[in-house]
Amino acid sequence: MQVKAPRGTADILPGNTAKWQKIERIIKEHLESFAYQEVRTPVFEHTELFQHGVGQGTDIVSKEMYTFNDRSKRSLTLRPEGTASCARAIIEHSIYGGVLPVKWYYTGPMFRYDRPQAGRYRQFHQVGVEAFGSNSPYLDAETIILMVEILSALGLTAYELHLNSVGCPVCRQSYRQSLIEHISPVKDSLCPDCQLRFQQNPLRVLDCKVAACHEAIVGYPVIHDSLCVECREHYAIVRTALTDSNVDYIHDDQLVRGLDYYTNTAFEIHIPGIGAQSAVGGGGRYNGLVQALGGPYLPGIGFALGMERLLLALDTLGLGESEAPGVDVFIALMNDRFETQALKILNKIRKAGIRADKDYTGRSGKAQMKYADRLGAKLVILIGDEEIEQGFYTLRNMQTKEQLQLDNEQLVDSIKQIMAN
Ligand code: HAM
Repeated sequence: MQVKAPRGTADILPGNTAKWQKIERIIKEHLESFAYQEVRTPVFEHTELFQHGVGQGTDIVSKEMYTFNDRSKRSLTLRPEGTASCARAIIEHSIYGGVLPVKWYYTGPMFRYDRPQAGRYRQFHQVGVEAFGSNSPYLDAETIILMVEILSALGLTAYELHLNSVGCPVCRQSYRQSLIEHISPVKDSLCPDCQLRFQQNPLRVLDCKVAACHEAIVGYPVIHDSLCVECREHYAIVRTALTDSNVDYIHDDQLVRGLDYYTNTAFEIHIPGIGAQSAVGGGGRYNGLVQALGGPYLPGIGFALGMERLLLALDTLGLGESEAPGVDVFIALMNDRFETQALKILNKIRKAGIRADKDYTGRSGKAQMKYADRLGAKLVILIGDEEIEQGFYTLRNMQTKEQLQLDNEQLVDSIKQIMAN
């Protein structure tokens, strides 16, 4: 048996969970202040959901899914992303018939079989938002503002926001045609992946990271020139709204995103200097997704941030410090006859909201004081023979080394008073 987590997965040990919790708390506060509510969908779904939702020709569906048959021979897939699941839940629970827009957020693990490297894992965690039921370009602006506000609140202000419009199915069709005409003569010089992409979705060739592919298609037509009037207007309003809100962005003709459901606004946020996997988040509009999955026409927009990449950025930029939570009070026993008494005090002070602990490994008195220090205890309650015989507790301030003698009634209030100072 291999005592090792599978490649591309990681344990998040208690030394690190404090950082995760801090980020999650900041993000959650922002999501709720933008009126998003949490949704929790299953970690696995029917495979067809992602085939139809994310798209057969995408790298995610064609190469990266964890797909398996269950014992009833149903094909299931560990979710590679959260948008398709939200769209499925909107249809399944007829949420589209209620008050719109519906603003949902989710957090949790996603699964993609990709080559692991710094910032790229096979199990990773996303925080995502999805707003269904409005095609207002101001909602696009609000969604992007939410994403950049979160980054700023985390201290990640050195980001680059890339923005594009990938149009609607009508204008994309004419763009696709002009792109095919441009790439056709040079298609044999593309990398093997791009030769396949060219067959399935030529727009995806623009997204390729191989330099030779970029050289081969130089001078390619840009999608912006093919946008229909409505798509062009929609994009112009989004851009103006962002500028008016002091959100800097880069209009990026090459930004097409790696999932097939996008329409109109598409965006990605990068943090330079954190390595090859610099995209900490991405998203866009997906006006056709709900309908493609069998629901009514219901426009939508959202984004997802990669938790591991946010942490990578915070660590790389030296912003990732967060104290692991310790205890406020430690109970040190000078004799194990006092165990029951110690448990009673622990119960009492914990009920009062004070973080407290004691030793359970038979440490000596001196070792208990060292251990209290390691846990970050500000106060230690000493229980020895004298204390038990005379019915008081000794409260030791670990910083000032001052000691107080307190009776049972005074204990909680005195601890709270000292902690507040
Ligand atoms: P995505 O661009 O595929 O979009 O993923 C969003 C973010 O998840 C990425 O920017 C990255 O930070 C993180 N991520 C993706 N793959 C990995 C990986 N293998 N390891 C670590 N982090 C990763 C979506 O998933 C869309 N569902 C976003 C969306 C929501 N669009 C509309 N609504």
